[in-house]
Amino acid sequence: MRNYRKKVLFDHEAISSRVEELAAEISARHPEGEILLIGILKGAFMFMADLVRRLSVPCEVDFVKISSYGSGTASSGKLNILLDTSIPVEGRAVILVDDIVDSGLTLNEYRQALEARSPRSIETIALIDKTGRREKHVHLDYCGFRIEEGFVVGYGLDCNEFGRQTGDIYVLEDIGS
Ligand code: IMP
Ligand code: MG
Repeated sequence: MRNYRKKVLFDHEAISSRVEELAAEISARHPEGEILLIGILKGAFMFMADLVRRLSVPCEVDFVKISSYGSGTASSGKLNILLDTSIPVEGRAVILVDDIVDSGLTLNEYRQALEARSPRSIETIALIDKTGRREKHVHLDYCGFRIEEGFVVGYGLDCNEFGRQTGDIYVLEDIGS
């Protein structure tokens, strides 16, 4: 059993101002609004809540639940759609909202599943782009922060379901067993 220590990586002020900028970018690119934001549960719930409150254009909100992780800090490499959209995506300007991109499997595969349903457009946004373990190419139209590696928790992101509730984002530092 390894032990971890939490260290603040992005505090809530930094997150808040970045989310504000991202919302402004999205609003500027979609002046007509009518975007459908699809958040990937559970990790994106807090990011989504803050993001939509800062958009200056009308939007619809939906959520999907996809699991690519079992438990712990490593990817299982399998994608299960546990809950799908309830709003039809055909003809819509969709923005897929995720908390963090790691291997890229989740966003890459779910994006393909959505493309098959003929949306007008698909864009992707992730609060954090973790680049070091990418297996599938993922194009991010909007990205909050970029990190190379490390396991992060807080602001919706969990470690074995705990740690989602903080306003700050922490990185877990391995301090041995
Ligand atoms: P991917 O399919 O490997 O890109 O994994 C994406 C999903 O894994 C994210 O949406 C998160 O839910 C989870 N994940 C990946 N890295 C982390 C992390 O550092 N902390 C918490 N969850 C993570
Ligand atoms: Mg997730």
